[in-house]
Amino acid sequence: MARILVTGSTDGIGLKTARDLQELGHDVVFHARSQERANALEGSPEGLAGKPEVLVADFGDLEQTRAMGRSAGAFDVVIHNAGIGGQPERVETGDGIERTFQVNVLAPYILTALMPRPQRLIYLTSGLESVGVANLGDLQYQSRLWHGMQAYSDSKLHDVALAFAVARLWPEVLSNAVDPGWIRTKLGGPNATDDLPEGAETQVWLATGDGDALVTGKYFKRRQELPANPAASDVQFQDGLLQACAQLTGVSL
Ligand SMILES: NC(=O)c1ccc[n+]([C@@H]2O[C@H](COP(=O)([O-])OP(=O)(O)OC[C@H]3O[C@@H](n4cnc5c(N)ncnc54)[C@H](OP(=O)(O)O)[C@@H]3O)[C@@H](O)[C@H]2O)c1
Repeated sequence: MARILVTGSTDGIGLKTARDLQELGHDVVFHARSQERANALEGSPEGLAGKPEVLVADFGDLEQTRAMGRSAGAFDVVIHNAGIGGQPERVETGDGIERTFQVNVLAPYILTALMPRPQRLIYLTSGLESVGVANLGDLQYQSRLWHGMQAYSDSKLHDVALAFAVARLWPEVLSNAVDPGWIRTKLGGPNATDDLPEGAETQVWLATGDGDALVTGKYFKRRQELPANPAASDVQFQDGLLQACAQLTGVSL
């Protein structure tokens, strides 16, 4: 039995992943953006296996995210799943940081840096990482015109770069990125082509599987290794991204 943290597990793919892992007998810790969302989870009419342990932090708040990273404790596996989609307008959080970048990139970076190193790390990306732009000079759309879907795609490229950088820097940890496919969720929308089981299965396999699942620095969709955006493997880009994250968060990897 592994102890596994799934971020953003109050809804969508994260909730399904957490439930599937519980069903397999693992000790799963959930994560919610607020106590209210955590309480809603505990009262879920669909019935989780017992009352789950839930960590609470709004990933749009640096201090809450750092506090979760410092206090979360040790896990065998961490699945960085929480995320937001393309935002219609450029919005800054209370930390003065563009929201998509903070929630989708800085939060998994902070947790990776502050939590004890697990055996396996999984970062949720998207097929849109392939059109992500590696622009270290304007990570937060301060000088470019706002384009919500482009900012989302960029953030998902950054997630792959983070997964690959960790794989390079921490060879003892298995660190991979997963595109769940287009899944019917709050984020994916009602026209998405696939349902939650397909969206969760690759993370469950990478988190708990043997054999082909024991790899690092790879990008998967439906358990198949695919080529990622070449920028994600560019060591200079990885290092620049890590440096920018460190400057913005006060936390180094
Ligand atoms: N669905 C797709 O088609 C698709 C495709 C490619 C990649 N992905 C990726 O898959 C992951 C999960 O997406 P999903 O479709 O399952 O989305 P979702 O249904 O909207 O769920 C997102 C989860 O993240 C949490 N979250 C959002 N903002 C947060 C914040 N500020 N602080 C803490 N938690 C926060 C949400 O909490 P609440 O429940 O409180 O909102 C929820 O638990 C994301 O990383 C996404 O980029 C999804």
